[in-house]
Amino acid sequence: MGQEQSAEPFDQSIPPTKLLRRDLLAVAEYIKSGQCKKVVFMVGAGISTAAGIPDFRSPETGLYSNLARLDLPRPEAVFDISYFREDPRPFYALAQELWPGKFKPTLTHVFMRMFADRGLLLRCFTQNIDTLELAAGIPQDKIVFSHGSFAGQHCIDCKEEFDRTELEEHVKIGKPAFCACGGLVKPDITFFGEALPADFHNSLHLLDSADLAIVMGSSLSVYPFASLPQRIDETVPRVLMNMEKVGEIGTRRDDVVWLGECDDGIRELAEELGWWEEMEEVWKGLRGDVGLETPVALSEDTLEAEVTKLTDDVEKSLRVADEHTKWVVKGLDKEKTPSAAAVDVTQVETHAFPKAEPEKE
Ligand code: OAD
Repeated sequence: MGQEQSAEPFDQSIPPTKLLRRDLLAVAEYIKSGQCKKVVFMVGAGISTAAGIPDFRSPETGLYSNLARLDLPRPEAVFDISYFREDPRPFYALAQELWPGKFKPTLTHVFMRMFADRGLLLRCFTQNIDTLELAAGIPQDKIVFSHGSFAGQHCIDCKEEFDRTELEEHVKIGKPAFCACGGLVKPDITFFGEALPADFHNSLHLLDSADLAIVMGSSLSVYPFASLPQRIDETVPRVLMNMEKVGEIGTRRDDVVWLGECDDGIRELAEELGWWEEMEEVWKGLRGDVGLETPVALSEDTLEAEVTKLTDDVEKSLRVADEHTKWVVKGLDKEKTPSAAAVDVTQVETHAFPKAEPEKE
């Protein structure tokens, strides 16, 4: 899957240098010590699963494993720019469900905001497009939307901005929007095959001055994002909070690997930091609907229901695309006058798709 290959884990008998131990408690102590003034977060889809948004690569509840049964060249094709040019409908079907506003931030999002409120947040590098970081109240200039977001929308050909309300209307009915130039319109999400936003590259230098890096909810399988933890100075503590071991965190002296639901780890950290009460206040303001003391994480069933809905929507759009292709081909045979739509959909079956895991850029 293109993950960073794990190097040998660090010899656990050798003590860390900056941390007292390699556990969350020691991380909290380090944050409280005053030595840690600039914190960087590197996050992925796993921090939003508790909000009800499926991640991509979890075996049962991940979007890609569910899309694998559909008639797509590859599950990732829904986010591939060449495939989008040929058939934008599966992406539009997904966008309907993922359009911002429906989901609410998780405990992990609120925790990151606490760092911003205290002037300790250097940057939050996120791969997520759900904009829940913003919804949690993290200032926009502290977030690097490394894979873009739904915040803007442009024509993929002439790059002209498109009207947001108009795009929203198109997304609602699953009908691709076209620019005046004839090009397709999509939200400013970075697809496979597209360059990452300039803000990502322009913010990389900040990693040199970080005092702590916390990686959460990512399989670290998409580059160049996956290489961010390696850019952190060797002497700076790095923390991985994830359901599974990923990347090469755990190979350095001050690395902490904590496996589990990130909201659970956050709870431990927040209590140790004495931030819990304040987080409760923020939480009430954001999510009066669910108490912080009750389990925040959604059940597997809820996540499964969401991923089933997403998959069904994409499947429906593929069926429509297939019927539409037949209809257009029939029309072409009759009239021999191709329309813009005909050019798009008739290429569906002929396009070649790379076999290897695509990298961003
Ligand atoms: P993935 O789905 O690849 O990885 C999510 C990771 O989070 C996995 O390692 C899960 O085990 C873990 N995880 C899930 N729920 C968790 C929880 N509650 N607590 C802790 N860990 C949890 O998602 P990303 O790494 O974000 O690109 O994927 C990277 C990119 O691949 C995405 O940005 C997307 C996709 O193609 C796009 O272009 C849209």
